[in-house]
Amino acid sequence: MGQGTNDIGMMGLAVMGRNLALNIADKGFKVAAFNRTSSVTDEFVVSLGPEQQIQPTYSIEEFAKSLAKPRRAMIMVKAGAAVDAVIDSLTPYLEPGDIVIDGGNSHYTDTNRRNQALAEKGIHFLGVGISGGEAGARNGPSIMPGGQKEAYEAARPIFEAVAARAGDAPCTAYLGPRSAGHYVKMVHNGIEYGVMQLIAETYALLKAVLGKSNQELADIYASWNDAELNSYLVEITSHIFRRRDEGGKSYLVDEILGEAEQLGTGMWTSQSAMDLHVPVPGIDIAVAMRSLSALEAQRKAAQSFLGPAYVPHPTDDETLSVEHIRRALYAGMIMTYAQGFAQLRVASNKLEYQLSLDDVARVWRGGCIIRAALLAGVERAFGGAPDLGNLLLDSEMAARVAERRKDLVRVAKAGASSGVPIPGLMTSLGYLDSFRAGWLPLNLVQAQRDYFGAHTYRRVDREGVFHTEWTGE
Ligand code: 2AM
Repeated sequence: MGQGTNDIGMMGLAVMGRNLALNIADKGFKVAAFNRTSSVTDEFVVSLGPEQQIQPTYSIEEFAKSLAKPRRAMIMVKAGAAVDAVIDSLTPYLEPGDIVIDGGNSHYTDTNRRNQALAEKGIHFLGVGISGGEAGARNGPSIMPGGQKEAYEAARPIFEAVAARAGDAPCTAYLGPRSAGHYVKMVHNGIEYGVMQLIAETYALLKAVLGKSNQELADIYASWNDAELNSYLVEITSHIFRRRDEGGKSYLVDEILGEAEQLGTGMWTSQSAMDLHVPVPGIDIAVAMRSLSALEAQRKAAQSFLGPAYVPHPTDDETLSVEHIRRALYAGMIMTYAQGFAQLRVASNKLEYQLSLDDVARVWRGGCIIRAALLAGVERAFGGAPDLGNLLLDSEMAARVAERRKDLVRVAKAGASSGVPIPGLMTSLGYLDSFRAGWLPLNLVQAQRDYFGAHTYRRVDREGVFHTEWTGE
């Protein structure tokens, strides 16, 4: 079997692994392919054209031996136990200096553990977030690598060749040590949850309050996508409203059950944000709404106690316009990104990633699900002020939000008076007003904590820690 010559190996030939392997091969790299179930490998190989240099392998030993040294073995299997199983089966055939690349949505704590365990054997481990779905993997995803810098340098030509491009720049960059890449990908998904919830709420307002048809909705989102809201998620939303159900009698979107599912990355983002004490309410509410959407039986039963859901009245709110909704969405989107980046700033400090947030913004500008025109402003903001704690502390981004506060208010009023639930947009308004509030009523919370638990408080007028006996005279 001799010394291998393949530039990289792909383990796991489900759709993401297959498409990435094809993308890498298109760029002139030699790829070894392996899948646990060999019939999947066979099916893949049969579909290849003669110019695609992808070598099927049928044992892990054959796979490992087919790779040039240092070996670069990429794993694209289901996150969780499968990744550990694959790593365990692969390591006996690896040598110090080889590089294992996990391209799945692994939890960042798993990535830290794997990085350390392999490092003890001298093997490098890159945890790489990959976003863009199936099409992105095939044509150019956003790639978020973390791990040993030298391992990144060895994989860099491949990542840069296959990644999406924003202008001339590839949508990939070394993000930091250990789990930096998977952490950034997790927050990417958290932002994705938040933005999808906001877009869904604009749909609810346009449909239920303004009475827009699916055809009109398709045109509205398409026109939104042509201006400041330009983004992948707004674009696909316009496409979705055009799609007829099979047979053509109805629109497909109206036949889809409104119980959103989740794979967990949005929830992980919220969980980590809570651990880090970073407020990300736009992400939290999106996770909560997916859970609430699944309580369909309870929600139906509650109608007999709580009154029926809103009754669509196009005339309910005559002064609400499509433009108010558009502007409110833009403000909400900026604040969702602001929360995600604020989380990355704190995580970078506490977990010692040394993230460069303008690099993150650039990596997200193309290929990934949350690519959006507004990321140009984000990249500029963090490029000019690398330590910026929140995007709302950048004067230009803050102005964009402040100018649209009245639109958020308009939209929140319409939601409240019509009964159309728009908790994400309302949370955006709440976040904005809280963030700019000089005074928050949390002095009362401190007093309450001290009252019942002697938790002490600090004072506005002097240094020190104080406790009061609240019940005695
Ligand atoms: P399979 O085709 O043999 O099931 C997505 O599920 C991908 O992950 C598939 O390529 C699948 O391989 C692979 N996978 C899932 N669990 C695995 C495991 N424990 N070991 C190896 N590959 C696994």
